[in-house]
Amino acid sequence: MSQLLEIKNLSVDIMSTRGLIHAVRQVNLDIEQGIIHGIVGESGCGKSVTAKSVMRLHHPRTVRIRGEIKFNGVDLLSLSEREMQRIRGREISMIFQDPMSALNPLFCVGDQIAEVFMHHFKDSRAAAKKKALELLEQVGIHPAQTRYQQYPFEFSGGMLQRVVIAIAVAAKPKLIIADEPTTALDVTIQAQVLELLKQLQKELNVSIMIITHNFGIVAELCDHVSVMYAGTVLETGRKRDMFRHAVNPYSRALIESIPKTGHAGQRLTTIPGTPPELFDLVDGCPFAPRCDFASDICWREKPLLAPCAGMQAPQGRLEAEGESPSGLPEGAHSAVEIGHLAACHNCCCGKEAQG
Ligand SMILES: Nc1ncnc2c1ncn2[C@@H]1O[C@H](COP(=O)(O)OP(=O)(O)OP(=O)(O)O)[C@@H](O)[C@H]1O
Ligand code: SF4
Ligand SMILES: [Mg+2]
Repeated sequence: MSQLLEIKNLSVDIMSTRGLIHAVRQVNLDIEQGIIHGIVGESGCGKSVTAKSVMRLHHPRTVRIRGEIKFNGVDLLSLSEREMQRIRGREISMIFQDPMSALNPLFCVGDQIAEVFMHHFKDSRAAAKKKALELLEQVGIHPAQTRYQQYPFEFSGGMLQRVVIAIAVAAKPKLIIADEPTTALDVTIQAQVLELLKQLQKELNVSIMIITHNFGIVAELCDHVSVMYAGTVLETGRKRDMFRHAVNPYSRALIESIPKTGHAGQRLTTIPGTPPELFDLVDGCPFAPRCDFASDICWREKPLLAPCAGMQAPQGRLEAEGESPSGLPEGAHSAVEIGHLAACHNCCCGKEAQG
């Protein structure tokens, strides 16, 4: 499948009052056309900074971005602000965590949706209103005629997030970035909003990059997943492979810390320690201080994303033969698909630990 978004060697440094923060460190990440790709990791690991870099929302005077962010083959970092404005909302849109602060409290919600059609497609006010009413119905806000006129304070959190989703899909973008879109909602409403995203993704064949702390959301929604830690991507691949065969100890620890049903009275699994501050650039693996499998090399050299030696198959043969009837690439060494990459010096250590 073709890549819609290709992030290569992305580094983002932020000037803060406490010093220079190396928030994102040589991140490599690809998002395919028409899939939902989850980005998971603990608080402060650089998920939002990466997403904002794609939208070019950082302040250029305090934030330095290096690397390449190719969207449909075009490097977004090389575009002028004017060219970028044509892409924001039209080609790539964003859903933020808090819908109340994403909307303007002084305008009725319907007009805020209609504005997308007037701005990007130069529709007349009447035509834009008609499309906005259809969209309100499509995202489950009824009766649309009445709700169109209402202001954000008249909506519940879940309904507001539906409005924000309507704005995000209005221009039929190719990519939607959803930054923790359900964190502010209770679990029932969260499930409904996730279901709506899933449904719209299928209807519009849009790619979604969803940022979350929650592997449960990944399990529910995503096709692919990337695990971030301390500004780097430690593992990336198909969801199925990640849940069954994650090889990086941090990814495995995150998956093991998902609360399980039917284990009443058992202590929840946690990852001891805390993520590092991002002021210093370290030579080794950023997870080493917390990793049970760290060896000398882990402290000296940064592990790079690569197919794990234990799962690599001969490249030429795979390309020639495609997938086997079992769904696995012909000749693949294990059930982990090609395209699954992990950054770890001892990437089979997790398997030994399990065995
Ligand atoms: N505007 C800013 N000024 C200073 N530091 C910032 C700014 N934005 C982000 N950072 C820092 O950059 C690092 C990465 O932040 P980021 O917001 O990407 O984390 P995150 O993974 O999205 O976390 P969370 O899950 O809590 O949202 C953190 O150390 C954060 O404190
Ligand atoms: S590189 Fe070393 S420290 Fe880092 S996750 Fe792998 S085993 Fe652990
Ligand atoms: Mg964030």
